[in-house]
Amino acid sequence: MVATSTAPTTTSGDDIAGLYAHFIGGRRVRPDGSPDLVRTNPAASGDVLGDLRSADLELVKTAVRTAAEAWPTWRNTAAPARGHVLLEAARLMDQHREELARLIALEEGKAVKDARAEVQRSINITEFMSGEGRRFGGYTSASESATKFAFTTRQPLGVVACITPWNFPLAIPAWKIAPALVAGNAVILKPASATPASAVRLAELYQQAGLPDGILNVLAARGGPAAEALLDADDVRAVSLTGSTSTGRHVAARCAARGVPVQAELGGKNAAIVLADADLDLATAGIVDGAFGSTGQRCTATSRTIVVESVADRLLDKIVARTRALRVGPGVEEATDIGPAVTAEQRSSVLEYLDVGRAEGAEEVYAGSGQLADLPPGHWLPPTVFDKVAPSMRVAREEIFGPVLSVIRVPDADAAFEAANAVEYGLAASVYTRDVQAIFHFVDRVDVGIAHVNQPTLGGEVHLPFGGVKSSGIGPHEQGRDAIDFFTKVKTVYINHG
Ligand code: UN1
Repeated sequence: MVATSTAPTTTSGDDIAGLYAHFIGGRRVRPDGSPDLVRTNPAASGDVLGDLRSADLELVKTAVRTAAEAWPTWRNTAAPARGHVLLEAARLMDQHREELARLIALEEGKAVKDARAEVQRSINITEFMSGEGRRFGGYTSASESATKFAFTTRQPLGVVACITPWNFPLAIPAWKIAPALVAGNAVILKPASATPASAVRLAELYQQAGLPDGILNVLAARGGPAAEALLDADDVRAVSLTGSTSTGRHVAARCAARGVPVQAELGGKNAAIVLADADLDLATAGIVDGAFGSTGQRCTATSRTIVVESVADRLLDKIVARTRALRVGPGVEEATDIGPAVTAEQRSSVLEYLDVGRAEGAEEVYAGSGQLADLPPGHWLPPTVFDKVAPSMRVAREEIFGPVLSVIRVPDADAAFEAANAVEYGLAASVYTRDVQAIFHFVDRVDVGIAHVNQPTLGGEVHLPFGGVKSSGIGPHEQGRDAIDFFTKVKTVYINHG
């Protein structure tokens, strides 16, 4: 057992520093030794929000052992009772919604209005999954023999690992752990090293809701030996990850060596298609929200607008006018539309793409750099619109993960659908049109996991599956009723009563 100190498990207001901890066996754990994980405020780079010594191999072992030892009690808790704990956790999130929104806005940097939507989403998924406790099970079937009774049942896997990114520091942990827990598993949650505080707060609310100690553990670690040790741990029976395509493929390969299933939600390069008959105001609102909301740091962000040439100039004028009105600023301020990038590295990577776009010959029709001058030192990015982007350019093909919109002009709907598919990703797409035939062509042909008509490429509703195809995902989708399947194993039973 590593040397640790513990801190009280409640927090309020801005007590964010205390949340830079691991959460193991129902308590915060801060390993001794100098912190290697120091988190600064993305909107005021001089301010340290908190620090922590990240998990080492020993701590990973401790967390996995703690989860494995705690698991039998939870496994043997009736599924409706497990669901009740989720319902209580959802209620607590509701009670603490402003605290959680502020925590997300501070830690991740996103605008507090986006953070509030994230909290609501976390509540929704937890509430929905709580009901799965009462619907848990398999099905009965006729047997080939009159004296036999046949049915299937679902059982939990044991300890599972959930590896989550920084861009939705509360919602992605929430939507992975809810199905894992209601299905009766114990969880090791490894949040991104940039945003562990929201995950620890979530675990505490679950504990307050009645989840037994050791069933939900949070381990903050960078990629590297500790993260690999989690993937390799014998007791870890499934891994659900959201992250980049390269990380997802690495994790899937590593887990395949042990025959452990992986569910991975990966990158996106989502297109909003605008056809000649579209309601251009509706399209503009959806595209601008989709491209710049959450600072463009979401896998369902609208990164490309594919527009039919006959309406391109009109659409572009509207997009630029609406983007101009967006306010860049600290996430915690109510008036902010676009918060900073999450880290200095993320900011540099987006700025590099702006250079790449210009060098490739894309036309920079808007770059909101003007207002950045008045802001305190932070990871600020100018919302940027590139026009006349060719499908072959890197800014048209690669995931940028920042507030950058590339406009691609095409002659007609067929060319638009073709351009939409001309990327390696396949997460989400949307089309703006009133033409019923075009809508069905879009739904049929565009190769994505989530298709939207006359609404943004963003998000989804928690009771329906969420996930992508091509390089955007590996394994079964998250959310909806299907999410339970990944976290359970099926047993088929034959009873001879003859
Ligand atoms: C959303 O865009 O609303 O990492 C959710 C991501 C996605 C989740 C996006 N897996 O951005």
